[in-house]
Amino acid sequence: MTIDDIGSNANEYIEIYEQSNIKYEVVNVSDVTFKSGTKEGIHSWFRLTPSYSPELVRFFIDYLECQKKHIVFDPFNGKGTTIVECQKLGYESIAIELNPLLYNVTNWTLKWDYNLTELSELNEKIQSQFIKMSKKAQNLNIEEFEKKFKLNIPKIHNPFRWWKENVIKDLLILKKVIYDLVEKENIGFYNIILSVISLDCANIHRNHPTISFDDNHTRDIDVWKDYEINFKKQYNDIEEVQKIKVSKKAVIINGDSTKMASYIDKKIDRLITSPPYPNRFSYIHTTRPQLFFMELIEDGNEATELDIKAIGGTWGRATSILQKEYLEPNEGISEYLTYIPELKEKSLLMCNYATKYFNMMDDHIKELRTRVNKGFRGVYVVGNSRLSGVEIYTEIILGRIFEKQGFNFDKVVVFRKRGGKKNLYETGVIVSL
Ligand SMILES: C[S@@+](CC[C@H](N)C(=O)[O-])C[C@H]1O[C@@H](n2cnc3c(N)ncnc32)[C@H](O)[C@@H]1O
Repeated sequence: MTIDDIGSNANEYIEIYEQSNIKYEVVNVSDVTFKSGTKEGIHSWFRLTPSYSPELVRFFIDYLECQKKHIVFDPFNGKGTTIVECQKLGYESIAIELNPLLYNVTNWTLKWDYNLTELSELNEKIQSQFIKMSKKAQNLNIEEFEKKFKLNIPKIHNPFRWWKENVIKDLLILKKVIYDLVEKENIGFYNIILSVISLDCANIHRNHPTISFDDNHTRDIDVWKDYEINFKKQYNDIEEVQKIKVSKKAVIINGDSTKMASYIDKKIDRLITSPPYPNRFSYIHTTRPQLFFMELIEDGNEATELDIKAIGGTWGRATSILQKEYLEPNEGISEYLTYIPELKEKSLLMCNYATKYFNMMDDHIKELRTRVNKGFRGVYVVGNSRLSGVEIYTEIILGRIFEKQGFNFDKVVVFRKRGGKKNLYETGVIVSL
């Protein structure tokens, strides 16, 4: 791969690596984005656009020389690409995820030992119950519907902007029928489908990587059809994956990686992850319809509290609390935050936002230091970002923070350009101990 292939701006970054004496390597991975995961068994079940590809995980398993005796860790799990791939390939793995939807989706995705005959037999019952109840619900207004079926419209702000009335009624009925008929140990299989279709059936546009309302669409939304498509996909993948013997069951923890030492008691050998980038993308904000539909959060305050705890995300109050006064960098890292003088002048909010990001990554790295074995090797895949026109060299800053916390900052591996935009690209920060 040549430097030209990775985007016209890459030369600028490469020059900076050279000036700063940072080792780098341009590597060839055909697709690092979520797109190639949509074509792979299990990985394709749940769509998370900021996720990376299973191919990238396989690349790093090789690159970091992971062995079967190693524990592979992902502190920023997302939908679990790293640990799902590790479970497929037989590596022991652990991950942490803050977002309750992504944590649960991963947990449900890791179970493969279903009795498929039972599931397909049950599907006929689910369908006939669903059709019966859906017919009954059609002519009821929302209050009558809630009362008759003892169901509640999700507590999300503006629910009928998210879902048409008959669509949300059908989604809630389907969930009720499933919860009434399915055994507890099988419910994860269905919860994934419900999480997926609650967003697929919403009035939204998918813009990469975020979503926006599609208020005036005329799409015909058929909840049952969407359910069936996803059921078949998962069913077929389970049939395939049952041919593999799972030797190491992956573990997912719902927690905060800035406090990871309180959840992880094992020592880690390898780490493959992609933390949030300092680009303001909020995982809580973009998963709200599913968080509410699956009843994983109770109200908007809970969503805001999670967004404040999350690295990277900001919206609403999580943003306004950053607006007030200058946020000091953590002790010992200010010399790496080279964006501060310019960004502080241009936008105090953006400057504080970036500093909050690096402070939290510093907190995480400090905790990681207490949980790694000698010989540890890891990669943090990050994208560059620009805030108020100021370039943030995330990979360099993270590499320096790792050095400060006692790790080796070995090199930066450079991938292709991202999202078709010339000046966005992704890199992997390679660290070791
Ligand atoms: C870029 S995504 C990871 C995507 C993942 N590689 C995949 O393929 O699905 C970053 C994840 O970090 C999570 N996150 C943010 N702050 C966190 C924290 N403090 N502790 C744990 N997870 C956090 C976000 O919710 C998000 O799911």
